[in-house]
Amino acid sequence: MPELRIQQPDDDVTFRDWQHVHNVIIPTHHLSLEEIRERARRHHLEVAYQGDVLVGCSTVRPPSDDALTATVIARVLGPHRGRGFGEELYSRGLARARELGAEVIETVVLSSNEDGLRFALKHGFVEIDRYVLPGESIPWIDLRRS
Ligand SMILES: CC(C)(COP(=O)(O)OP(=O)(O)OC[C@H]1O[C@@H](n2cnc3c(N)ncnc32)[C@H](O)[C@@H]1OP(=O)(O)O)[C@@H](O)C(=O)NCCC(=O)NCCS
Repeated sequence: MPELRIQQPDDDVTFRDWQHVHNVIIPTHHLSLEEIRERARRHHLEVAYQGDVLVGCSTVRPPSDDALTATVIARVLGPHRGRGFGEELYSRGLARARELGAEVIETVVLSSNEDGLRFALKHGFVEIDRYVLPGESIPWIDLRRS
């Protein structure tokens, strides 16, 4: 089985791939390419392939407050789950957050993403907030690593 190839999006194809994974997994909050390019200037974004097949993406929001809190989010498309890709993306994201000086790690899960919530709880996160964004109906859950 080919290893996972993980890179930062840096052209139209890789930005579109990152967008595809995000928008399939978060159907309530579609991001435009423009929004993603803007985020890439503030956040560390990665996109993952097995061979040439798109399997997932990730986001690390660097620490920005006095508590040195970073947010790490791994996303893997449904058909590619349960093979360790989420673990690899998450571990890389965690390492990157620590390199950036993070002392507290948070993640955020759409409450309808049961796989994501189970993954986060198994990785030591606990719920700290639950809220509905304006114009949306499905609650988001913020979690912090205990
Ligand atoms: C969270 C998410 C990234 C996990 O992706 P994934 O690729 O399925 O993750 P993994 O394969 O590493 O782990 C999932 C399960 O597969 C198991 N697994 C991993 N490799 C395996 C293998 N070779 N054979 C059998 N099982 C395996 C893991 O042990 C884990 O089991 P568990 O659910 O009982 O703990 C994915 O569910 C997702 O995109 N969710 C929506 C986005 C989200 O909410 N992200 C926030 C979480 S940071």
